[in-house]
Amino acid sequence: MKIGIDRLAFSSPAMYVDLTDLAHARDEDPNKYLIGIGQSQQAVVPITQDVVTMAAEAASQIIDDSNRDQIAMILFGTESGIDHSKSAAIYLKRLLGLPDQLRAIELKQACYGATAGLQMAKDYVTLHPEKQVLVIGADIARYGIKTPGEVTQGGGAVAMLVSAEPRLLALDDVTSFRSEDIMDFWRPLYRTEALVDGRYSENIYIDFFKAVFADYCQQSQRTIADFKALTFHLPFTKMGLKALRAVLPQADEAQQTELLTQFEASRVYNRKVGNLYTGSLYLSLRSLFDNSDLQAGDRIGLFSYGSGAEGEFFSGTLTQALPDVASKARIETALTQRQRLSVAEYEQIFAETLPAHDILLDTSRDTSRFVLTGIKHDQRQYVDRG
Ligand code: COA
Repeated sequence: MKIGIDRLAFSSPAMYVDLTDLAHARDEDPNKYLIGIGQSQQAVVPITQDVVTMAAEAASQIIDDSNRDQIAMILFGTESGIDHSKSAAIYLKRLLGLPDQLRAIELKQACYGATAGLQMAKDYVTLHPEKQVLVIGADIARYGIKTPGEVTQGGGAVAMLVSAEPRLLALDDVTSFRSEDIMDFWRPLYRTEALVDGRYSENIYIDFFKAVFADYCQQSQRTIADFKALTFHLPFTKMGLKALRAVLPQADEAQQTELLTQFEASRVYNRKVGNLYTGSLYLSLRSLFDNSDLQAGDRIGLFSYGSGAEGEFFSGTLTQALPDVASKARIETALTQRQRLSVAEYEQIFAETLPAHDILLDTSRDTSRFVLTGIKHDQRQYVDRG
């Protein structure tokens, strides 16, 4: 029996800052951002959006009356939680109208959380093939205005349904993971912006990738020649390119070209959205599904990395031919219809943070279906305007 990703949806706020504009404002050559970092645009998250609303927006695309009662768990990966105690999954469950007979929990290990959810979901569905698990990766990537990390911000959510006989990707059983206590990126509870040792985090990312890829190959007796595409956690798209280049010499010339072509397909959306932390690898996978011409049965590798640090390399085979033109049309339309902010507008929105007291927010500029309307009696107030 095959277990894997049956459906995969993505959502991001309807406003962005153009990175050529940002480069001019920061007195940098635009090519540093466009080529050196590999980003063209960056989602800007208004105060009326958080991980719950963004996750609801993504998940509502893949949950309907045909599968609502099959969902046994929500595994919500995030490092941008809204409460020290209560999980974002519980809020999401209510917004989606899911039944009470399910488990709803939040998972945290930097950008790795959704991968932990995906692997746990696979194990659960293996034992309960009639059930489905909703896995979320939702985050707001914040480093701060005029910091080196500013160009690697972003935000959004992916929602995945894990099921038996999946329609997108059947996951292989072999997987290689690794964790080590490393201070390359962290965010103390009193901060909304991350602390990061940028270059160090890039080096650790590559080290982890090389280690888990080698271990995976040893366990599975596969080589790079068995992969039609390699996908990566993309905090910024150049990071994935650096990782790919680290193993490319293992491939012959024709396959190197093929892997580089598929990598381009896998970063189309990430270039326009920026960093999603937990969701980045899966946005990249969505991008590959929608922009590549791979065939059913082709094997794809996935590298997940969460600073701090944890990495995993795993794989799956496509269960349908690509591209998914309907998904591509939907996402391209949503991205094209976003409002382009000036740098001054982006800075103003970035500076807005929720107060530690009750507030009624102005939601008139937010076109999303799910919005945060304010705080009442210290409780976040959500509305489904759909
Ligand atoms: N044209 C093309 N490329 C240019 C350029 C230009 N005019 N100017 C600079 N570049 C290149 C640099 O050569 C460099 O490429 P390289 O990484 O291949 O060497 C790249 O652009 C970035 O330039 P750099 O000066 O190193 O950027 P930075 O010091 O401003 O910081 C990060 C870059 C990624 C370290 C920083 O954005 C950061 O800390 N981000 C958050 C951490 C993160 O996401 N880590 C990833 C692991 S999870």
